Amino acid sequence: MLTSPEELARALESVGYLPDEGIATAAFLANRMGRPLFCEGEPGTGKTSLAVALSRALSVPLIKLQCHEGIDFSQALYDWDFPRQLLHLRALEAASGGALDSDLAEKSLYSRRFLLARPLLRALEESPCVLLVDEVDRADDEFEAFLLEMLGENAVTVPELGEVRATVPPLVVLTSNRTREVHDALKRRCLYHWLSHPDLPREVEILRRTLPDLPERLATQVASAVRRLRELELIKPPGVAESLDWAQALTALGRTELDAAAAAATLGAVLKYREDTQRVVAAGLERLLAG
Ligand SMILES: Nc1ncnc2c1ncn2[C@@H]1O[C@H](COP(=O)(O)OP(=O)(O)OP(=O)(O)O)[C@@H](O)[C@H]1O
Ligand SMILES: [Mg+2]
Repeated sequence: MLTSPEELARALESVGYLPDEGIATAAFLANRMGRPLFCEGEPGTGKTSLAVALSRALSVPLIKLQCHEGIDFSQALYDWDFPRQLLHLRALEAASGGALDSDLAEKSLYSRRFLLARPLLRALEESPCVLLVDEVDRADDEFEAFLLEMLGENAVTVPELGEVRATVPPLVVLTSNRTREVHDALKRRCLYHWLSHPDLPREVEILRRTLPDLPERLATQVASAVRRLRELELIKPPGVAESLDWAQALTALGRTELDAAAAAATLGAVLKYREDTQRVVAAGLERLLAG
């Protein structure tokens, strides 16, 4: 049992995730209060990896539900294994020699062994666990309402089988890139945290922890340049993932210094739109690197 945000922060650090005080406090409270944690933020600010790190730090399984347009109940909660039910029915028919008791057959067809548990049902059955509901803004309103109900109850009813209730509520982390606003009703159930890009020392530390062979000087140069890129109005400002990619690309080319030539050769690791690249090159790579 974790007793403070500081203790959770240390546990997260021990598995390679470096939270700031705000993240550690929000995650600690979500765990302590049994409330879902709703994380919003720019791409690459560590929303998804927070859930992964929490599961490792708390030594519980991670169950992930990736949301997408059109996601529905049978992809999120459960489905019946129709081909196996059919095989089973055939076997029953063969064994009965034509005198199949249809009530009994139906009962055995709709038993737990033919139920395919999807992430939400698995989370209820397997909790304690971390349930990551990733990119919930991609799902539609109807799905959100359904999610809200399930999160409120920590239980679902499978009509043929009855209620499945979590003995311990899962620690739920919802993430959103804010491509649309998620309803207030869902947010009201959750603790909210906005993840910003890490400050310079933390980003340097993330780079060095993730890439132990990266020289400190190069890590600082990459993190500083990425910070400056984030101040430009780019279509896709680089996240931590891009800093890591940039550092790796430089290392792969044997560079120990981020100068204009090295930057020009590796910009594709950090900028993902032609317009962004043109803009940065036009503004001058020397200036970007000089600060
Ligand atoms: N605080 C952190 N400590 C360690 N690594 C981090 C941290 N923040 C981000 N990262 C690293 O940055 C990368 C991107 O993080 P992640 O995928 O979690 O971002 P995200 O916010 O989910 O992005 P997206 O919105 O694009 O899904 C990962 O490799 C992750 O390990
Ligand atoms: Mg993510």
